[in-house]
Amino acid sequence: MNTGSWTRREMLKLAAALGLTPAIAIAREETMHTRDIPSSGEALPVIGLGTYNVFDVDSTPAALAARREILQLFTSKGASLIDSSPMYNRSEQIIGDVLRDTELRNQLFIATKVWTDGKTSGERQMRESAQLMRAGTIDLMQVHNLRDLDVHMATIREWQKEKLIRYNGVTHYRASALGQLEKAMRVHRPEFIQINYSLGEREAQERLLPLAQDMGIAVLINRPYMTGRLFAAVKGTELPDWAAEFAGSWGQFFLKYIVSHPAVTCVIPATSKPHHMADNLGAGFGPMPDAVTRRRMESFFDELA
Ligand SMILES: NC(=O)c1ccc[n+]([C@@H]2O[C@H](COP(=O)([O-])OP(=O)(O)OC[C@H]3O[C@@H](n4cnc5c(N)ncnc54)[C@H](OP(=O)(O)O)[C@@H]3O)[C@@H](O)[C@H]2O)c1
Repeated sequence: MNTGSWTRREMLKLAAALGLTPAIAIAREETMHTRDIPSSGEALPVIGLGTYNVFDVDSTPAALAARREILQLFTSKGASLIDSSPMYNRSEQIIGDVLRDTELRNQLFIATKVWTDGKTSGERQMRESAQLMRAGTIDLMQVHNLRDLDVHMATIREWQKEKLIRYNGVTHYRASALGQLEKAMRVHRPEFIQINYSLGEREAQERLLPLAQDMGIAVLINRPYMTGRLFAAVKGTELPDWAAEFAGSWGQFFLKYIVSHPAVTCVIPATSKPHHMADNLGAGFGPMPDAVTRRRMESFFDELA
């Protein structure tokens, strides 16, 4: 049964397996934090899952078993949002292969993207995504990197009326595109945006994040580890003592920096490994850094660079 919570025993076991500090193991709060989607009030768990590269694999028994384990762990701890795209080669197919053998569909919030030019091609791609992922209704359809934005937003809204899609959104992954994204927000008023934001890429907090909050737009955060580069930046550095209050690993330090921003709805770290999934899920539980601690995290990180 999906209880969406850690038992104390599971916490201690996970902490021991990951070599985490006891603080995370005895976290008082046992239900994953959620944030409401402003357009509907639906609660979304703050930790999601990205699939770029890490789900782009052949459907071998070993590859499928690892992804099945990831999704089972993910849903058993109350997480739900998985993000894909036709641009990620075999990722949508792998999601579908896992869902074929499990009962997990109804526990997932499936987000994907349209990434092509033209209405006909967009419709064909969105139909194919739904089939590949065995999604039925797609929870969130996003215009990938704002490609052919006006055309696809119109189609997505038509599909929403037909209940083939629940929410609409737009994405990008570069700070240099934040201006274009702001324009898209003002013109199209999407229900979701997906952007890059992390300790190493903080530009979005200047304008876009406050704007999303003001406009009532849900925010997904991609590249939370800068595709792994943040781990390289702290290699050989111990977590500071003051972080033990809220993080038991560097992964949790990086993710909690993101989800403690009040405009952020959900962060979508990608992983191919169940033990990294467990680590990432831990960032959805327990105390979050406050505004003063967030500044301290920024200074600490900047001094390493
Ligand atoms: N334009 C767009 O719409 C756009 C662009 C970029 C990304 N995205 C979305 O955002 C998602 C996340 O971004 P990303 O995939 O670029 O990179 P990311 O999530 O910043 O980093 C992923 C990397 O971190 C490693 N990792 C994950 N958890 C870890 C942990 N706890 N400890 C150590 N290493 C860990 C993964 O390796 P392991 O497999 O070894 O765990 C992987 O190499 C994408 O998958 C995609 O869904 C969207």
